[in-house]
Amino acid sequence: MANVVVIGTQWGDEGKGKVVDLLSAHAHRVVRFQGGNNAGHTIVVSGERFVLHLIPSGILYPDTRCLIGNGVVVDPEVLLEEIKGLLDRGVSIDPKKLGLSERAHLIMPYHKAIDMAREKAKGKSKIGTTGRGIGPCYEDKVARVGIRAVDLTEPDILRQKIKANLKEKNFYLTNFFGCEPLEYEPMVDTYLSLSRELSPFIVDVSTELDEAVRSNENILFEGAQGTHLDIDHGTYPFVTSSNPVAANACVGAGIGPKGLDSIVGIVKAYTTRVGSGPFVSELTEGTGKYLRERGQEFGATTGRPRRCGWLDLVVVRYSARINGITHLAVTKLDVLTGLDPINLCVAYKYRGKRLENVPTKLSELNGCSPIYEQMDGWKEDISGARAFEELPKKTQAYIRRIEDFVGVPASIISAGSGREETIVCKNPFDG
Ligand code: IMP
Repeated sequence: MANVVVIGTQWGDEGKGKVVDLLSAHAHRVVRFQGGNNAGHTIVVSGERFVLHLIPSGILYPDTRCLIGNGVVVDPEVLLEEIKGLLDRGVSIDPKKLGLSERAHLIMPYHKAIDMAREKAKGKSKIGTTGRGIGPCYEDKVARVGIRAVDLTEPDILRQKIKANLKEKNFYLTNFFGCEPLEYEPMVDTYLSLSRELSPFIVDVSTELDEAVRSNENILFEGAQGTHLDIDHGTYPFVTSSNPVAANACVGAGIGPKGLDSIVGIVKAYTTRVGSGPFVSELTEGTGKYLRERGQEFGATTGRPRRCGWLDLVVVRYSARINGITHLAVTKLDVLTGLDPINLCVAYKYRGKRLENVPTKLSELNGCSPIYEQMDGWKEDISGARAFEELPKKTQAYIRRIEDFVGVPASIISAGSGREETIVCKNPFDG
């Protein structure tokens, strides 16, 4: 029995949803541990497309229990909509299938209002957030004024907290941004009514996981976003407000660090980024546009076109170090079919100097250009390959170069959006 963490090695949108869905077949429980509905995890089963924002991607398996950990910030309205949307499509969800940590912080209307007002005020220097109130919600958590899921079960406390927070938030919204104030009564009514629907799902996730570990269950931890959007290790300040790295699976779900066995790093076969911030191997024309169209690189949450470029191995190797990755899962390999040659970014050039690592200074990173290694492309359709040996030799060489550079074997290779369009060289649950 093993515990497996799945994280993104780039800037999110690496295809974690598909890999988590695939690995969920071996898991008793699937746990989200950070982020919120800024995430959009796409899963395709028998040609049917599901996009999940908050509910873990294991939900499509009838016997897998899904948990939302304390590290996630939850917009209760979005969570209920997502539950209803899945129920409408015949996916069974009840408190036996889904649990929400009592310690998870709630996104409130003022978080969304502040997120949007700030971005607007920043103009050209905006972060390009998803506008879902993620950052302001994490700020309140750290400022110790956050409202947690458990507060939904105590209406008086909920009322008091909303009242106290709203006084300060309205002052900020009206005086600093010139926005309209938010009203107290309708907000309380909405959250009280949401609480009636959500209360049955609220549980102690940490204790549940402890019991699951003792019962030798397989647990899968599902990361959101990616390592280079990490608040500590990403391209600050163009990052999200949580830690998408593997170590946060412990903090964000409530288990000890010894409880993690395998760390799967998802690597898209090329690179994408949504929102602002440095991106050394970005291609704004030609191949960049081709990758966007071919890979359908449009945000699953906001619909924004994603910026595209060649695979940056400097970025991926950095992630292997920060996360302690034990397995790579290379996704969307089929999108590269037909491109020849293919470039791999293996170092950066800054003011004539070769850099082997991602610099911390934003000014330096912005001034870097990519140093490429060229590889032969392939023309064959690879979506039908079910074993590594069935891939064309040139595709095999591309994968081997990634493994070699990053120093981690590719255990999973995905060449299509369907569950079956996958090669599993090694199951991370087997160690
Ligand atoms: P926030 O998380 O909405 O605050 O946005 C901060 C940055 O993270 C922006 O550049 C977003 O585009 C990016 N971001 C947040 N969530 C995701 C995701 O799931 N995939 C890709 N980028 C994301």
